[in-house]
Amino acid sequence: MQPVTSLRSFFALASVLVMVARAGVAADPLTLDYSLYAQGKYIFERNCILCHGPRGDGSGELSKGLQPKPRSFREGMFKFRSTPYGALPTEDDLRVTIRGGLTGTAMGMFTQLQDDEVRAVIEYVKSFSRRWRKAENYAEAIPLPEQPKWFEDEKVRGVHADGGKQLFENICATCHGTKGDGNGPTAATLKDMWNLPCKPSDLRQPHLRCGDRPIDVYRVLATGLSGTPMISYEGALTETQRWDLIAYIQTLKLPDVPTLGSANVRR
Ligand code: HEC
Ligand code: HEC
Repeated sequence: MQPVTSLRSFFALASVLVMVARAGVAADPLTLDYSLYAQGKYIFERNCILCHGPRGDGSGELSKGLQPKPRSFREGMFKFRSTPYGALPTEDDLRVTIRGGLTGTAMGMFTQLQDDEVRAVIEYVKSFSRRWRKAENYAEAIPLPEQPKWFEDEKVRGVHADGGKQLFENICATCHGTKGDGNGPTAATLKDMWNLPCKPSDLRQPHLRCGDRPIDVYRVLATGLSGTPMISYEGALTETQRWDLIAYIQTLKLPDVPTLGSANVRR
């Protein structure tokens, strides 16, 4: 791989396209917007480089000792998305990650960035991987259903949770453990595509990286977390089975202590 050369020719091509198309650049997702790229580089160097590294490979100065490690952007694989397993995230997905951070990891919330700055840094993040240049890696968000009415009714939810417990023990417990604490029998052996140990999430935590709402867990079951053993259950579990599982996971939740799961390093 010769990232420097290929990036250079990429930008040469991109700037030709900018000249040809002017206003039309942003309309083509495969074309990098050069002026955004330059602004994004600036934002990245001030806000992200210490963890994600100058080459975007996740090995910035602060990365040592962090668990999980900062993401490498070079493979173009992202865990938290609305799109099918393995597909690129939408720009909104990346915006949610950058604005909201990832609870319980070093990835903090970048609430101080302006909208155009977030747009720009996303454009820069894209420049690290060639996957963003191929149309076949893009996909639409998977449509999500409404939360069922019964979910608000504690009694009915309890009945669904009983069904969910069975499913959980049959399908999820080998990794997440019967208590949902992330210590299932296979947990210690799991690796991600970056060949790093990949700990199943402790689903009892009041805040998860995917979000705090029931629908956020539903989305993970639909999309999976790309690059990790957390696959998509889109074809394998019905809508009802998924809500039953989520009802069960709710029963495992630990009380929300302000210091728990909010270890975000804020800039
Ligand atoms: C203090 C360290 C730190 C800083 C600074 C930081 N990140 Fe991160 N970032 C992380 C870690 C750690 C992860 C991996 C979290 C995980 O795997 O759950 C991550 C993951 C990500 C992801 C991948 C999410 C996914 O779905 O896989 C994106 C995108 C991201 N960061 C963007 C940024 C951007 C843009 C900036 C600067 C505006 C930034 N980060 C600054 C630590 C950092
Ligand atoms: C093969 C092992 C495995 C199985 C089976 C599995 N998971 Fe996971 N799951 C993981 C791992 C590993 C992660 C964390 C990946 C990472 O962050 O790198 C995860 C993450 C998650 C998350 C994201 C939570 C967060 O941190 O935001 C949810 C929700 C989840 N799993 C639910 C389930 C449910 C429900 C089932 C059963 C239908 C299940 N998982 C089955 C391994 C597994």
